[in-house]
Amino acid sequence: MPALVLLGAQWGDEGKGKATDLLGGSVDYVVRYQGGNNAGHTVVVGDQKYALHLLPSGILSPECTPVIGNGVVVDPSVLLSELSGLNERGVDTSKLLISGNAHIITPYNVTVDKVTERFLGKRKIGTTGRGIGPTYADKINRVGIRVQDLYDESILTQKVEAALDVKNQILTKLYNRRAIAIDQVVEELLGYAAQIERYVADTVLVLNKALDDDKVVLFEGGQGTLLDIDHGTYPFVTSSNPTAGGACTGAGVGPTRISRVIGILKAYTTRVGSGPFPTELFDDDGDALRRIGGERGVTTGRDRRCGWFDAVIARYATRVNGLTDFFLTKLDVLTGWEQIPVCVAYEIDGKRVEELPYSQTDFHHAKPVYEMLPGWSEDISKAKTFADLPKNAQDYVKALEEMSGAPISAIGVGPGRDETIEINSFI
Ligand code: GDP
Ligand code: IMO
Ligand code: MG
Repeated sequence: MPALVLLGAQWGDEGKGKATDLLGGSVDYVVRYQGGNNAGHTVVVGDQKYALHLLPSGILSPECTPVIGNGVVVDPSVLLSELSGLNERGVDTSKLLISGNAHIITPYNVTVDKVTERFLGKRKIGTTGRGIGPTYADKINRVGIRVQDLYDESILTQKVEAALDVKNQILTKLYNRRAIAIDQVVEELLGYAAQIERYVADTVLVLNKALDDDKVVLFEGGQGTLLDIDHGTYPFVTSSNPTAGGACTGAGVGPTRISRVIGILKAYTTRVGSGPFPTELFDDDGDALRRIGGERGVTTGRDRRCGWFDAVIARYATRVNGLTDFFLTKLDVLTGWEQIPVCVAYEIDGKRVEELPYSQTDFHHAKPVYEMLPGWSEDISKAKTFADLPKNAQDYVKALEEMSGAPISAIGVGPGRDETIEINSFI
């Protein structure tokens, strides 16, 4: 039975949480495979609004088992507060499974994230300040702390010592900060151990057995394709692989298991933090998209940068992820524009370029080549089928599909679960 990957096709905040929640009722497992609480996924169920950061959006579907895979970085204090927040609202979180191999975001990783950003000054990445980059750096440097380390005090102490050895030198000598006490960190981490233990599992075994048993597994990406450490707009990226391959390494399933890769695609484009963004708008249209689309970060509360749809990026996402489908979100936000510009190619140093340039210099110079598509003014938020959409909205969707290289199988016309037009079924 199918393993599906659902991921962001742009720079994050495409509406992955809503899409995952929508499918959550028909799948057996929803798995986060990378990132951590840098994500902010808003899910609206009836009159209830949930903001999830670390937990998979499937946690809101009672039949579904939510899983935090080995590729995720886990801040235990965030985990516990997110769980208790949901419990207070009557959500049962008891089925949650967390990989023992997932890495822990320690308090010193959060400190290093913030200090490094400050040190970078105007060259900063604009991170979420949640310790994501430094935690992945420790993982790759082989001085990371894993969830399973919480259950062996001696190993935990040795590992914290190893990590802080160098970091304290850097903090005190380079950044002029106080050294971090090893004992304090160990004590804090040990304090989480018992509270988390019931969730810790061999998630690789669980997920592979589930697939053997024909269960449906949905892998939910955080961030987006252009924030991928390998395939994104480096260095203005996150420190993990949100792209489809990340689901395999971040959950321990083979690529042969994956049958469908769904790219979540906003009907326009947004970005949070620094970095190039060819279709960014600095005018009234940008402000209108931000206002109508409610484009404010769920994690950091920062205003999102807004711009028109970029088909070059969508094609790139299709290619690097092997997308089988798109889920187009927020089409309703575009209601009311007489004409909607869509970026179909770039002009780079006087030449028309159809595909994303591999050279960062070229990408920084890329100017959008726009095609104008006719807009619509009718309210589309009640549309249930494609035929319910006004002709110009249908044509906008068809044009995006044509340019982006994969079928659009669902369309979001509002934040709610039921504000969705399903064209092809995903499962
Ligand atoms: P994620 O990080 O990809 O899960 O996306 P976010 O939750 O950060 O941002 C998407 C925002 O758009 C959220 O506030 C959603 O409730 C909202 N949203 C999702 N789909 C739609 C849609 O089709 N129409 C409208 N108007 N809002 C949507
Ligand atoms: P969701 O899952 C949008 C951005 C940050 C920054 C860069 C690196 O809600 O789509 P990090 O803290 O990860 O080291 O920051 O990545 N970023 C996101 N932007 N949506 C997200 O998550 C993001 N997670 C990280 O703004 O530019
Ligand atoms: Mg988000």
